[in-house]
Amino acid sequence: MRMRTLGPGGPAVGAIGLGGMPMSVKGDRPSQDDAVRVLARAAELGMTLWDTADAYCLNDSETGHNERLFAAALASLPADLRERIVVATKGGHVRPDGRWETDGRPEHLREAVDASLKALGTDCIDLYQFHRPDPKVPFADSVGAVAEAQQQGKVRLVGLSNVSAAQIEEAMTIAPIVSVQNQFSPTHLAPQRDGSLDKCRELGLAFLPWSPLGGMGGAKGIGSSGALAEIAGELGVSAQQVVLAWHLGKYEHMLPIPGASRIQSVEDSARADEVELSAEQMSRLDKSFA
Ligand SMILES: NC(=O)c1ccc[n+]([C@@H]2O[C@H](COP(=O)([O-])OP(=O)(O)OC[C@H]3O[C@@H](n4cnc5c(N)ncnc54)[C@H](OP(=O)(O)O)[C@@H]3O)[C@@H](O)[C@H]2O)c1
Repeated sequence: MRMRTLGPGGPAVGAIGLGGMPMSVKGDRPSQDDAVRVLARAAELGMTLWDTADAYCLNDSETGHNERLFAAALASLPADLRERIVVATKGGHVRPDGRWETDGRPEHLREAVDASLKALGTDCIDLYQFHRPDPKVPFADSVGAVAEAQQQGKVRLVGLSNVSAAQIEEAMTIAPIVSVQNQFSPTHLAPQRDGSLDKCRELGLAFLPWSPLGGMGGAKGIGSSGALAEIAGELGVSAQQVVLAWHLGKYEHMLPIPGASRIQSVEDSARADEVELSAEQMSRLDKSFA
């Protein structure tokens, strides 16, 4: 797989990454052994950016479920492959009774970083992303807590998620941010309109589109009609591959992280990297998504 950097000067990772959410938040999630096999296959195929979060679990009785799966999968890999994996986790969400709530208090984030280190079985997290601004806490205080973890050597790189262009600028005055993870797919084009993608282009930050295929409920039906279906037919590839190639065509530091709980999904998504879309096909897709 072709490599891209996680922002300028950042570590090299496969252009298509992997999201771990479906392995932990679905009621019918795979067993630990099956999840480890999916992750190991992704690594073999060059999907070396693995995205997780402490909140990827069914509820807060098992916070860190997905991070522990990642740790088990990393332990199963041969050393040369393990060294190439860049693990991106997040903190700032909590899951009381399975609900999604924010907790961006510095004291919570300090504890969350320590818990993620333990769950991942590491002494330094490759990329720690502040999951979502908490309306109850000044944004600068939350980012400051992650910056502090970086200064303490617990976190190598700092990223943001679910942020506006103005929040990216503000965070850059507090910590050397390398990445932004916002929702971006054919059915959710907000980053092209709200300035967050342009801000990443201007600053050279990596952009990780979340739910790139439309989310766990929408990914399989995507491209059943319209330009996506047409172009998938012209190229003889899946509609999901066309969507991921469309993401890659938008920006040199775009790193889609399609989620998966099955080996077939990672085997298909990994091939998106080989799909070459012409300028005419990119523009046909843009027009049909608008
Ligand atoms: N920062 C945030 O706030 C935030 C929010 C949501 C998600 N995320 C991150 O973004 C990642 C991706 O988002 P997502 O998992 O919600 O949605 P997604 O990637 O749009 O869709 C995931 C679903 O797509 C299916 N899939 C993947 N590749 C496929 C392919 N090539 N062909 C057919 N189906 C395919 C998978 O099915 P199977 O499960 O059957 O394999 C999976 O359930 C997450 O896993 C998570 O790491 C972040």
